[in-house]
Amino acid sequence: MNFRSCAKLNLQLEVLGRRADGYHELRTVFQTIDLADELRLEARSASGIELVLTGQDLPSDRRNLAWRAAEEFLARCGSLPGGRGVRIELVKRIPAGGGLGGGSSNAATVLLGLARMAGWDPFAGELARQLAEIGAALGADVPFFLVGGVALGTGRGDRVEPIADAAVAPPPAGALWLVLPPFGVATAAVFARCAPRGEAAPAPALARARRGERVEWESLVGENDLETAAFALRPELAALYTAVVRAGARRVRMSGSGSTLFALFEGPAGARALAGPVPSGAAWMQVSTLDRAAWRRLGGFDSSVGGS
Ligand code: C5P
Repeated sequence: MNFRSCAKLNLQLEVLGRRADGYHELRTVFQTIDLADELRLEARSASGIELVLTGQDLPSDRRNLAWRAAEEFLARCGSLPGGRGVRIELVKRIPAGGGLGGGSSNAATVLLGLARMAGWDPFAGELARQLAEIGAALGADVPFFLVGGVALGTGRGDRVEPIADAAVAPPPAGALWLVLPPFGVATAAVFARCAPRGEAAPAPALARARRGERVEWESLVGENDLETAAFALRPELAALYTAVVRAGARRVRMSGSGSTLFALFEGPAGARALAGPVPSGAAWMQVSTLDRAAWRRLGGFDSSVGGS
């Protein structure tokens, strides 16, 4: 069956403190977007995992989170009706090292897809709880990609609270752009340099959205406490940020630990400012936000639609 594995943005990312386990305590708002990898899953008669990866030069063995997700699923949930093992074909489009969660999304898509192929509902009951547990052990961002839409992440980012689709008015069509630098940044290096802000009250718009009151998407775009560290590691990124502000963006933010920036313009007309030369060899890409219902449809996770 075919599935799509979507990227995410962090609309805000507050680093509240350092934890004893070496991770950082976060408060972040995740959002799925329509930039996606393609993922095809098949049962195979031989046991074990086979991963065929195209589009990027990345490991296609145990080091790949998609591989480990399939391995964990088989160990915990049993094999699929059609065979003992699993074959994964993965076509990569989400840049690696960009703060867009590509690897974590692939892992979650494998978990959701295999559950669907087994004829189960991965969004309900004991299975949803088990998948969240497997996901959290694979990586801090994986549990979000089992939920999609807009969600609040706390703890390592792995405690996820969905925000209702109706509580967020999406940005205007054509107004949201990604700015993709020709380099990635290493997540662990950025976290190692960041200065936690300590405990702080959540932004009022976030508190309203959690209660189900409708807020503008833009009001959920807060600060990213990793920007200072990422810009210090990569001064070209700071220069790019300034260039995007000068191009007329209302809001510019780094996603996750970088290097991707996202920019909100007044609308398609405003975004035409981007037609000019791009500094540092970065690429621009227009994207759309996906609420939870749209993410499930595009991903192929809906039981009514199914993968194909
Ligand atoms: O969980 P994941 O493997 O995606 O995290 C990559 C690295 O990012 C961790 O090894 C850690 O150094 C850092 N990190 C952190 N605090 C978090 C999430 C990630 O320090 N909440």
